[in-house]
Amino acid sequence: MAQTPQAKYRKDYQSPSHTITDIDLTFELNETQTVVTAKSKLTQLKETTSLKLDGEALTLKQVCVDGENWSNYELLEDGLLVHSLPKQCDLTIVTEINPQGNSALEGLYLSDGAFCTQCEAEGFRRITYFLDRPDVLAKYTTTIVADKKQFPSLLSNGNRIDGGALEDGKHWVKWQDPHPKPSYLFALVAGDFDILEDSYQTKSGRDVQLEIYVDKGNLDRANHAMLSLINAMKWDEERFDLEYDLDIYMIVAVDFFNMGAMENKGLNVFNSKFVLANEKTATDTDYLGIEAVIGHEYFHNWTGNRVTCRDWFQLSLKEGLTVFRDQEFSSDLGSRAVNRINNVRIIRGPQFAEDASPMSHPIRPDKVIEMNNFYTLTVYEKGSEVIRMIHTLLGEANFQKGMSLYFERHDGTAATCEDFVSAMEDASGIYLKHFRLWYSQSGTPVVKVKSHFDAESSTFSLEVEQYTPATQEQSEKQPLHIPLAIELYDSEGSLVPLVLGGEKVSNVLNVTDSHQVFTFENIAEEPTPSLLLDFSAPVRLEYEYTDEELGFLMVHARNEFARWDAGQMLLAKYIKSNVERVQANQEVELPPAVVEAYRGVLLNEDLDPAFVAEAMTLPSFNEVSGWYDLVDVDAIDFVLTTFKKQLAIQLHDDLERVYSSSAQSDYSLEHSAIGKRALRNRCLSYLAHTDKGFELVEQQYKNATNMTDTMAAMQAANSAQLSCREHLMSDYSQKWKHDGLVMDKWFQLQGTNPDKEALSVIKETMAHEAFSMKNPNRVRSLVGSFMNMNPVAFHSKTGDGYKFAGGILRELNDSNPQVASRLLDPFLKLKKYDQHRQKLIKDELVSLKNMHNLAKDLYEKVTKALEE
Ligand code: TRP
Ligand code: ZN
Repeated sequence: MAQTPQAKYRKDYQSPSHTITDIDLTFELNETQTVVTAKSKLTQLKETTSLKLDGEALTLKQVCVDGENWSNYELLEDGLLVHSLPKQCDLTIVTEINPQGNSALEGLYLSDGAFCTQCEAEGFRRITYFLDRPDVLAKYTTTIVADKKQFPSLLSNGNRIDGGALEDGKHWVKWQDPHPKPSYLFALVAGDFDILEDSYQTKSGRDVQLEIYVDKGNLDRANHAMLSLINAMKWDEERFDLEYDLDIYMIVAVDFFNMGAMENKGLNVFNSKFVLANEKTATDTDYLGIEAVIGHEYFHNWTGNRVTCRDWFQLSLKEGLTVFRDQEFSSDLGSRAVNRINNVRIIRGPQFAEDASPMSHPIRPDKVIEMNNFYTLTVYEKGSEVIRMIHTLLGEANFQKGMSLYFERHDGTAATCEDFVSAMEDASGIYLKHFRLWYSQSGTPVVKVKSHFDAESSTFSLEVEQYTPATQEQSEKQPLHIPLAIELYDSEGSLVPLVLGGEKVSNVLNVTDSHQVFTFENIAEEPTPSLLLDFSAPVRLEYEYTDEELGFLMVHARNEFARWDAGQMLLAKYIKSNVERVQANQEVELPPAVVEAYRGVLLNEDLDPAFVAEAMTLPSFNEVSGWYDLVDVDAIDFVLTTFKKQLAIQLHDDLERVYSSSAQSDYSLEHSAIGKRALRNRCLSYLAHTDKGFELVEQQYKNATNMTDTMAAMQAANSAQLSCREHLMSDYSQKWKHDGLVMDKWFQLQGTNPDKEALSVIKETMAHEAFSMKNPNRVRSLVGSFMNMNPVAFHSKTGDGYKFAGGILRELNDSNPQVASRLLDPFLKLKKYDQHRQKLIKDELVSLKNMHNLAKDLYEKVTKALEE
């Protein structure tokens, strides 16, 4: 490494010395030599006539001040220092960049021949020297010049105001964005696309043109994205009273993209995975993902773009809030319970794991080396949980008042998390002083509850203790303000009113101290408590339920989430006890009562099939790993696999009955149809482990009319290691080998292959014609799934899995550090494995650390992991 990367601290925030109010950009597009002319209106804000601009991987051609050539500047490693500037001036900078050589997919790059940009977080500095920070808001005018035949579509933010033909077969288009924005929201796209067009009229009567740009030939896969966009626009008007503010909204789908999608003003750029779908190529899960991401990026137009972040430490201001909004969107349109279950799985699985890793950080981080490393589950998903807790404490009406006040105060500016909380407080009159600790304290709080019934005084008390274990970067922890939602049920399953100190209270308890007792009055018989209802706070709950109580809650809890959660707790008890049994060389034992509880759920026709499908799902290997300080890979895997087989064998008659009775003749995307398919395919995943497995799976693959059913068959064949697996895999590959996006599903099956020889097959698969190390989706599908979802092979004691991953990481360090850094995450958990494995992982981390050109993305994580 050339220089040791330097950390930035939140406490060191300084407002900028200058601002840029307007910028006029001209791009003369060329694959290897694009010339960018940037004319900025500059205003000095502080007592200095020198200006430091950010810049990376740029070739400087010219600097002019007020039209005069300017030589009074210094070229720095990370930018340009211009001296002796007038208080106000026009600063023109000409740079040259090489989009073709840009494999990091940050700044201006080529995706399958089309030019596109990715500027968040700090990619604009790879386009021109600029004040590349979110608190500098400018009005952008962008002129694009390119070959007309090759690049008929020339797009940027805002409205198209001019254009025309040029000599040599070139043409040009000029765009103007009337809304001042930070540089990270800038976008440019040039290419030859098919365009799906539609329109939307906002509730105040503005006509908005909607355009989705996809690769030629993919028009029949863009309809769901368009429908989702229209639904999102409507929903934001209805629920948040927020309207769109330009005359055009464009979405471009590209194949080469580091993340999910990007909310550039008026011109979203999407990973094609979150746009393209038809029933033959996409699963129901893909469809729901598209709806969520289209919604997410659209909702950023207000929470992110109209009000943006003062600095990157405030990222959760836009991301936590926008995730909350997209979760609400999906919940209002689909099943609230199923959405909540899936969101909670992410928190309890990978987010809690992040808290326990050397990368633990608060939702508003204090220290950052590479900003790209902080687009995390903590900032996004836990950030959303923090917003959700505010929503729980204030209620919907007050929350909406808070949102209005937030926009009234901060529209058109760059704000902080503190600004958001203050608006919520001022609008509601509800005090959130203690609650703010959620923004600065990292780690997963543990809430331990004990109950005590006193027949004589007719009281039932809950004794609540909370503590947060230390995290690597923060040893001291304070008690948090935790909204603990509860319900009490009598033996009939009826709700028991909550009375504290003679007064009826709401079902959200304010837990604020490390130790508190809530004594409920007028309780005639010992009730069954349902605790942390709807997962009212992102904490680990500990309460000693009996099997009977959990069985009771699985049936009687008033809300579906609580019923699901009771089922998960029941399974958790037996997963834990059986891991111990396996470690003591005893057999796995699943008590008949547990099996019967699951039979009850499966056969209960009053339940939503989508919900039953979730309830019938065992916790993932990764979630279970999170319960342990030391992960016994083989024991956990064995218990989960055995549970699956035992449930399959003992429930097989009923599974078969539900499987055949829930077949559907037509394919529809109605939520009820999606739910029915989910349940049917859940049944198949169990049945694959029975004698009937081979026959049913082959039959389903052969008869499938949609990708959901095709993939369910292949997944079942893969995880149950059926002998038809090979045949199905080769049939699928024959059919789809020319379509990388559809092949990703196949790559993922190779990556998660439970077979002993999986790794050698994975290595061969890298030579598949649809695979490319340059495409992040392909890498994540094959290598990412291996590292994250193939625990036995990845953690093989031979170290082969780690060595393979290490090699991939070293290769990606050079080409795409952002993707490498995400892929590295499983290595961060090294201390959760035995000494032997720890040593092997450490070897890989050290070999990364010793690279002469280690990117700062990897440097930040590797050094933290080795510091432990
Ligand atoms: N702001 C984007 C979102 O949440 C995230 C994103 C897209 C991103 N591309 C990125 C973040 C590249 C960092 C780098 O929707
Ligand atoms: Zn976002």
